[in-house]
Amino acid sequence: MNNFTFYSPTFFAFGKDRESETGKYVKQFGGTKVLIHYGGGSVIKSGLMDRVKASLDAEGITYLELGGVKPNPRSGLVYEGIDLCKKENIDFILAVGGGSAIDSAKAIAAGAVYDGDFWDFFLGKSITKALPLGTVLTIAATGSEGSPDTIVTHEDGMYKRAADGDAIRPVFSILNPELTMTLPAYQTFSGITDIMSHVLERYFTNTKDVEITDRLGEAVLLTMIKEARRLLVDPNNYEARANVMWAGMVAHNDSVGVGRAQDWATHHLEHELSALYDCAHGAGLAVMFPAWMKFAYKQDVNRFAQFAVRVWGCQMNFEDPEVTALEGIAAFESFLKSIGMPTSFGEIGAKEEDIPTLVANMFYQKPNHGSFIKLTEETSAEIYRLAL
Ligand code: NZQ
Ligand code: ZN
Repeated sequence: MNNFTFYSPTFFAFGKDRESETGKYVKQFGGTKVLIHYGGGSVIKSGLMDRVKASLDAEGITYLELGGVKPNPRSGLVYEGIDLCKKENIDFILAVGGGSAIDSAKAIAAGAVYDGDFWDFFLGKSITKALPLGTVLTIAATGSEGSPDTIVTHEDGMYKRAADGDAIRPVFSILNPELTMTLPAYQTFSGITDIMSHVLERYFTNTKDVEITDRLGEAVLLTMIKEARRLLVDPNNYEARANVMWAGMVAHNDSVGVGRAQDWATHHLEHELSALYDCAHGAGLAVMFPAWMKFAYKQDVNRFAQFAVRVWGCQMNFEDPEVTALEGIAAFESFLKSIGMPTSFGEIGAKEEDIPTLVANMFYQKPNHGSFIKLTEETSAEIYRLAL
C-alpha cells in the first residue's frame, strides 16, 4: 500500500426530511447571505426549493437565486455566478440539485474569491480558497457532495475539464434518499453506473497488496448490483434508494481509493463524449468502461479474473484465467444493458468519424491519461473504436 493522506471533513445529514435543517447548517457554517444555485427546474417542480427557502427564512438568512445549470455544466453560468457573488457580497453558496449544480456552485465558490479567470483552476492551478459551500443532493451519482472536485465545460471550444482543492469540499451535504424518487429511471441508472465506475477507476491498479480497498470497492459494486435490480422493479423502495445514495458518497470520497495508484482514463474518454454529445455522464461511462476493459485486461489478467469471481460470481478457470477475465467483462456489460444503459457509440448519438476530434480534445492541454495503462492518442482512438 502506498503512503496517503485522507481528509474528508464534510458534515453529512442523511435521511428523510433532513432538507428542513438546511437553514440551521448554513448558519452553523457561517452563512448570512446565500446564493442558491440549481439546475433546470426539477427542484422547483418537486417542491424541494420551497422547503429549502422556508428553512433559510426560519433562520433569518437572506438569499439570491441563480438557476439554469445544464447537465454537464458550462462556463457561461459560472462567470455569471461569480459576478453576482462579488456584486452582492454573497458569503455562502448553496447547491440544490445534482452533480452539475454542485460542480457549477464549486466553480463559482472558487472564482468568487479569485481575481483572475476561474478557468485557471481547470488548467492546473489548485484551489486553495473558496466561499463555503453546502449541498442538498437530489441524485446519487457523482459523489460531488463529498469530493474536492468540480467538472465544467468551457463553451469556448467545449473542453470539459476538472479542477480540485480541499477548499471546495462542501462544508455540509444533506442527503435525503426520498428526493431521488422523482428521477427518471434513465438518470437513476446512469447514476448507479457512475458510482460503479468511481470504484472501477480505483480498482484497476498496479499497486499490490491493497486488500482493504479492494474489498471495500467490491462491497460497493455488489451493493449497486443488488439495489439496481431492486429499483428496476420497485423505483420507490426507500431502503434501496438509501443504500445507493450513501454508496455514491463512499465511492468517490476516496475511501475505496487511498493507498493505490488510480486510473481515471475511462472518465477522461467519457468526458469528451458528454462534452460533444451532451449525453448523461453515467451513460457515457456505460459505453466506455466495457471498451476500456477489453483493451486493458491483458495488463493484469488475474486482477480482472478477481473482479469476475468476486463481483460477478464467475467460476475461476485456473488453467486459463483469461477466460474468467473475459467472462467478468461480459457479465458487467450485460448488467449495464439490463438496467437500460447504452453500451455502444450509436446509442448515445456518437459517430465513428468524430473519433479524431474526441482524441484531439482529450489531449488538448492535457497529455496524461491513465495509470493502470497510460494512454496515447493512438490507444485512445483504439478504445473509442472498441465502443462502436
Ligand atoms: O437540472 P434539473 O432540472 O435539476 O434536472 C436534472 C438533470 O436533468 C435531473 N435531476 C436531478 N435530480 C433530480 C432530477 N430530476 C428529477 N428528480 C430529481 N431528484 O437529472 C439530470 C441530471 O442531473 P446532473 O446534475 O447533471 O447529474 P449528475 O449528478 O450525474 O451530474 C453529472 C455531472 O457531474 C460530473 C459529470 O461529468 C457531469 O458533468 N461529475 C462530477 C464529479 C465530481 N464533481 O466529483 C465526478 C464525476 O465523475 C463526474 O464527472
Ligand atoms: Zn463519474
